[in-house]
Amino acid sequence: MSKPRFFVPNRINGEVIQYLQQYGNVGYRDKEEKISEEEFLEGLSRANALLCYSRQKINGRILEQAPLLKVVSNIAVGYDNLDLGELTKRGVLATNTPGILTETTADLTFSILMAAARRVAEADQYVKSGQWQEWFPSLMLGKDVFGATIGIIGMGRIGEAVARRAKGFNMEILYYNRSRKKDIEQKLGARYVSLKHLLQKSDYVVVLVPLTEETKEIIGAKEFALMKKDAILVNVSRGATIDETALIHALQENRIAGAALDVYEKEPVDPENQLLKMTNVVTLPHIGSATKETRGKMAMKAARNAVAAIIGEPPENLLNKEVLQKAK
Ligand code: NAP
Ligand code: GLV
Repeated sequence: MSKPRFFVPNRINGEVIQYLQQYGNVGYRDKEEKISEEEFLEGLSRANALLCYSRQKINGRILEQAPLLKVVSNIAVGYDNLDLGELTKRGVLATNTPGILTETTADLTFSILMAAARRVAEADQYVKSGQWQEWFPSLMLGKDVFGATIGIIGMGRIGEAVARRAKGFNMEILYYNRSRKKDIEQKLGARYVSLKHLLQKSDYVVVLVPLTEETKEIIGAKEFALMKKDAILVNVSRGATIDETALIHALQENRIAGAALDVYEKEPVDPENQLLKMTNVVTLPHIGSATKETRGKMAMKAARNAVAAIIGEPPENLLNKEVLQKAK
């Protein structure tokens, strides 16, 4: 029997490649930039396992070209880039990397919340561009974080980790989630409220739901109209959980005070996007989990998931259990 073939179309830690090589051949493209579709499809046509980042869309059209594929191992917790229906229909397992990136992403979420509140990026630019000619009392006045109210939409792993940080800042914690989390309420004093209540009362609205049909544009014009005029929106989930045009209008019309964004409807964000021209918007290039340690752990977790699928064991982070049930 021929050895299984793993396809890794983008740079990953060397130790991951060594690990995969113990179980089969590895088609490895040691480059950071996204692979062309042509090259991707060529590699995929011979692969039994794919390890990919969330910028790689996997849909029915792509899967048509992957007759040997047994598993798609996403190197991310979010998996809105994968068409799970199409994967399941074709008997291809799908996995992700939950948990290990939780604290790293919560750190980033809290840091951009604080950056927007205290105008950190704007002040940095002000000094570096030589505009600071004189100190005056209203220079770069911001908004308090300590003791303010945070509203977390999506009290999952990262939501809870953000709530723990908020508790350290003596914040009132409101949350809205699909299911109620009584343990988190007890541990952290968080209050389960309606989305409307959260929007009306929060100084910081933090979006941490996965992108699904239900959460697409969970915040739009109607929701911005409910928010406090001095509220700040923080989005580290996926760009499309927010109606970006409505966000731009809300900011232009001063219906909210600012935003802190790690994700956008279209990535990389268009340099002409109005959000990039606003000093009250902190903009990051989708780096929630980007620390050396965490990215290393994510890569290894993705590799273990792929290997498990290839050797016929259930992967730890399987997203479509139906495939295994059908195979029994
Ligand atoms: P998680 O543990 O699955 O948490 C998601 C939470 O959202 C769950 O509590 C879930 O409710 C809730 N939810 C789902 N659908 C909902 C709906 N329709 N209405 C209200 N609540 C809903 O996921 P996580 O590990 O915290 O990650 C969350 C997301 O963050 C990922 O999916 C990804 O998109 C994003 N992320 C971004 C970065 C970045 O680099 N910017 C890094 C990591 C993650 P239940 O508890 O009821 O299921
Ligand atoms: C990153 O965006 C992730 O979902 O892990």
